Amino acid sequence: MYSMKVSTPISYSPNFTSCTRVYKTIFCKYTRVPAVSTFTCLFRNDIGSDDPNGKGWLEFAKFLETNFADKNTVNSYCLGCSDGTEVYSYSIALKETLSQKEADKFFPIKAIDQDEEIIKTALQKRINLSYVDMERLKLITPYWEKYFYKPSTQVNINGDLCTKNSVSYSITPKMQSVVDFKQGDILSIIRNIEDSGNTVLLCRNLFPYMTDSYQKNVLNIVIRKLKQGSIIALGNFDKDTYFKKALDKLDCFKEVKRNVYRKMF
Ligand SMILES: C[S@@+](CC[C@H](N)C(=O)[O-])C[C@H]1O[C@@H](n2cnc3c(N)ncnc32)[C@H](O)[C@@H]1O
Repeated sequence: MYSMKVSTPISYSPNFTSCTRVYKTIFCKYTRVPAVSTFTCLFRNDIGSDDPNGKGWLEFAKFLETNFADKNTVNSYCLGCSDGTEVYSYSIALKETLSQKEADKFFPIKAIDQDEEIIKTALQKRINLSYVDMERLKLITPYWEKYFYKPSTQVNINGDLCTKNSVSYSITPKMQSVVDFKQGDILSIIRNIEDSGNTVLLCRNLFPYMTDSYQKNVLNIVIRKLKQGSIIALGNFDKDTYFKKALDKLDCFKEVKRNVYRKMF
């Protein structure tokens, strides 16, 4: 049986009862936070709106189209992308909502996670999807085989708690071509962002893995780097974090949709 090794106490306890997929993440050498479990799912229903099936992703995509109507290209970052689930949700939402020309503005998406094991898995261009993932995907699009296909050999992830509850799929070449996976840390990525008001930062559900001082560093760089019009999106799991509370107090960011913040000046 899998056992989770936590060397020092953490400030939250993951809710295993509602999980569709749970992974152990390794000790984070950047943030110094010890090994804990992480959860992810396709069309995680905490962005854009309250829709329980994750259709808020489509509203989010529609909003982005309007927000960046005057831009020729948009830099998309998915930080804490896990096994790719989050970045595939984003790409599918863009592809299903926007014309191909408009969606292409947002590609390729840079997908980053600090966890080497999870990035190694994502680079295999395969993914384990649960029943819940597939049900949500089919509600978003009846043409889901544009994105994932069977058969595929089983994806094995060290530390994955739910492999037996999921089915492995391959990622279609079209989908592969819009995402670049890389192992890395949020801080080093955002330090190097060159923004001219055309950036989307998905930083969803990863702040609980950082100390307050680390989150403060991230926030200071985000304030400095993001220019008017750029977007940062959080998740429900970030609710009680230093980052989210501090962001909510800033006049220069406005929450324009659920968990979606726009740089106002
Ligand atoms: C709870 S999962 C969230 C996955 C996805 N964003 C979502 O909302 O479903 C958190 C992910 O963030 C990653 N992570 C934690 N700290 C990070 C950091 N400092 N830089 C990059 N990724 C980080 C973890 O390895 C894990 O894969």
